[in-house]
Amino acid sequence: MTDTELRVSKIQSGTVIDHVTAGEALHVLTLLGIDGSGGETVSLGMNVPSERLGKKDVVKVEGRELSESELEVLSLIAPEATINIVREYDVVDKRRVEPPEEVSGVLTCPNRDCITNAGEPVATRFAVLDDGLRCEYCGDIVRDDITAHLAD
Ligand code: CTP
Ligand code: ZN
Repeated sequence: MTDTELRVSKIQSGTVIDHVTAGEALHVLTLLGIDGSGGETVSLGMNVPSERLGKKDVVKVEGRELSESELEVLSLIAPEATINIVREYDVVDKRRVEPPEEVSGVLTCPNRDCITNAGEPVATRFAVLDDGLRCEYCGDIVRDDITAHLAD
């Protein structure tokens, strides 16, 4: 890798989320619940040149590995993402994200009248479609702003 390609420093240990859809890096941070207040060391590259994607974003989070449910939601906003686990400067694991058939308990339904918004103990469930997510209870579709519908 040449110096011009390496715009963001290497990390010692943690997770590098590479090949993020250009422009989505801040959404990735939102999804991971990172707003700076937790004290994690985070580096971002936005709209950096990529052979595979033309342009991409890169998110590097030190000292943290991602859970399966975080990876699932990540696949919805950054389907081309590569997850690199780094330990002592080496990439020890590299995998692609894969969209699940269904996401449960992660997103809230935009429909105020949906049973999942009625204060009942019902976990949200969305079917993953090619172009959005469909609430299994009321049929409402979340298409664009997935991160605006992240549950707390
Ligand atoms: N990386 C890092 N810190 C390290 C090691 C790697 O930040 N200590 C980053 C690299 O900058 C790159 C990503 O992790 O963005 C993957 O590293 P590597 O597998 O070495 O790069 P490539 O072979 O180019 O990856 P790919 O084939 O997935 O494009
Ligand atoms: Zn609903």
